[in-house]
Amino acid sequence: MHSFGYRANALLTFAITILALMCAMASLSDNLNSPTPSAEVLVLNINWFQKQPNGNDEVSMTLNISADLQSLFTWNTKQVFVFLAAEYETPKNSLNQISLWDGIIPSKEHSKFWIHTSNKYRFIDQGSNLRSKEFNLTLHWHVMPKTGKMFADKMDADP
Ligand SMILES: *[C@@H]1O[C@H](CO)[C@@H](O)[C@H](O)[C@H]1NC(C)=O
Ligand SMILES: *[C@@H]1O[C@H](CO)[C@@H](O)[C@H](O)[C@H]1NC(C)=O
Repeated sequence: MHSFGYRANALLTFAITILALMCAMASLSDNLNSPTPSAEVLVLNINWFQKQPNGNDEVSMTLNISADLQSLFTWNTKQVFVFLAAEYETPKNSLNQISLWDGIIPSKEHSKFWIHTSNKYRFIDQGSNLRSKEFNLTLHWHVMPKTGKMFADKMDADP
């Protein structure tokens, strides 16, 4: 004969099992969803260019960042963190990556947008490599799910 305590315990175990199963399914369905976000960043203006006293180059730009991140959102998405990086090569490093802007997209309704902004973080080279330097703009994204693993990727944002 089962005691009441035993049944309550079994019920709890059952509930936890179901919950774990739902979480597993939620993150699984996220993995099946292969998102197709897009982004385009235009450099509208180079505002100024300066050499710091220590010799490092700094540049200020005005950007038009437009993105459609709607496909990153599922019912299991809490929010999406994005950052825009300038990537370029120098004799010292094959990849220099400098974050110029970032943002948190709280919901699907806000995930298709464009903004006109100057770089939020300073674009400073560790040296004097920026003048007439070719650089790529890359939009990186991190999807923070309600349950399951965070996942991240990046895309080329050059027009
Ligand atoms: C920025 O880009 C978007 C999408 O390409 C465009 O609709 C918008 O007019 C642009 N804004 C500015 C200020 O250039
Ligand atoms: C910039 O992008 C081009 C084309 O994808 C690539 O060939 C080049 O290596 C990239 N440069 C840097 C510094 O990442």
